[in-house]
Amino acid sequence: FENEKTYGRFAENNSIDEFHKKFDDSVTRIQKDFGQNYPMIIGGKEIFSNDIFEVRSPADRNLILGRFPLATKEDTLHAIETARDSFFKWALVPYETRVRIFREVADIFSQNKFDLAAILSFENGKNRLEAMGDLDESIDFMRFYAEQLEINQGFSKQTKSATSNENTKSVLKPYGVWGIISPFNFPSAIAIGMTSGALITGNTVVLKPSSDAPISAFKFVESIYHKLPPAAINFVTGSGSIVGKTILSSDIIEGIAFTGSKQVGMSGYSTVTSHRPRPFISEMGGKNPAIVSASSDIEKATDGVMRAAFGYSGQKCSACSRVYVHKSIAPKFLDMLVAKTRALKVGKPWEKDSYIGPVINADAVQKFQNASNIAKKDGKILCGGDLVPDASCKDGNFVMPTIVAGLPKDHELIREELFLPFLCVEEFDNFDEAISLANKSNYGLTAGVFSQDRTEIEKFFEKIEAGVTYANRAASATTGAMVGAQPFVGWKDSGISGKGAGGAYYLLQFLREQTQTRCE
Ligand code: SER
Repeated sequence: FENEKTYGRFAENNSIDEFHKKFDDSVTRIQKDFGQNYPMIIGGKEIFSNDIFEVRSPADRNLILGRFPLATKEDTLHAIETARDSFFKWALVPYETRVRIFREVADIFSQNKFDLAAILSFENGKNRLEAMGDLDESIDFMRFYAEQLEINQGFSKQTKSATSNENTKSVLKPYGVWGIISPFNFPSAIAIGMTSGALITGNTVVLKPSSDAPISAFKFVESIYHKLPPAAINFVTGSGSIVGKTILSSDIIEGIAFTGSKQVGMSGYSTVTSHRPRPFISEMGGKNPAIVSASSDIEKATDGVMRAAFGYSGQKCSACSRVYVHKSIAPKFLDMLVAKTRALKVGKPWEKDSYIGPVINADAVQKFQNASNIAKKDGKILCGGDLVPDASCKDGNFVMPTIVAGLPKDHELIREELFLPFLCVEEFDNFDEAISLANKSNYGLTAGVFSQDRTEIEKFFEKIEAGVTYANRAASATTGAMVGAQPFVGWKDSGISGKGAGGAYYLLQFLREQTQTRCE
């Protein structure tokens, strides 16, 4: 952390020592709540169950953080029906009131963000910096969408009249009940971003959080539900095969916002749109490239690539997992990248100096081991490739940040998303070839370039097939989009809607237009 220039919004007025002091206090304070039973929230009521699942920390499997109900199909259907019944109660609330409520919740989050970030760090294994980033982004989403609703005056406006006796208006109206299916990797920011988009525009929602990290999403629902008509927001926990499937199969649901894998997203999309058109907003992962040109600043390029590949152990959809480096600088680039990667401190993510935390669960560890075995056979592992041997890591899902070179250019490890700290490096001869290699992927989420040649940079922006693109971002080559500044949107197989979260067009997706003509 000593080398980090930024540690969240808190940095603006405070020192890094104060940041750590406040984080330490929160780590101590929040542990008293570990192991409690959490409810679902359906129809404005907290609902507990004897049929539960445990949430354990990926950094220490002995730590039970909480227990949540395993919802049944009937619980889920009840949540969907009650959300439908409350639709008009919420949809007809003036937009100014909706804006005020979201700003109030953003303020509550802002006041509690150290505690919330500490919980998140235990829950999904983000280090202090990344956990605080997740909370800052959550707050940004709520404030940004409130501002967008206000700037657009609730998305209702007078249009020109067709004839002199007609008065016409265009009104964007909410659809009804939305299903929100959120992932483990941004358990606060993405759950809040998608849910806020649907709710603030007047829809009601049924939110199913990731079973790996439901506490952060619960904290949001807990802060907002009693400010809304009962059942405007419903929180249903449990398995994808029961809760997720019931949401996706329901005819009452009018739209879905989903973030997760392409496989689950496409299957959900087929189910939801099989017999009638319905909006499906999705963000479905990536295999994000960085191009490092012969003219690049190697110090910056290695900093950016290292952070984008290994920040939060590569478990961001925006993580860099492919690097194309010009062969003239490849040896120097790789030496520096490997040295920086080996220096990263692995440890309990909520501890002050840890940079690399665990991966989320046993399946992720297994996937890492399979990928490492394939890499040993088909390429050359430059660092990592194993579990972390330290005794302090034995109870968690710790794997080493891994760099692989020498794989054939169309190898499965270069094509398929792993969602792990696993970076493949390839060499190129000329810049045009690098761009076509970068584009040779079904995914198109983020991409980065490092170059000091303006022509190369402009060529990159013209030709690269990705929604979120960066040049010379030493802070993180392909990751770390900021709400309002870098709308987060996937092209190709990375998304369906083509409009970015945290962008000016995002809310439009939760609304449908009605033209109203009043004749005199
Ligand atoms: N929005 C995050 C980023 O840009 C990833 O989901 O890194």
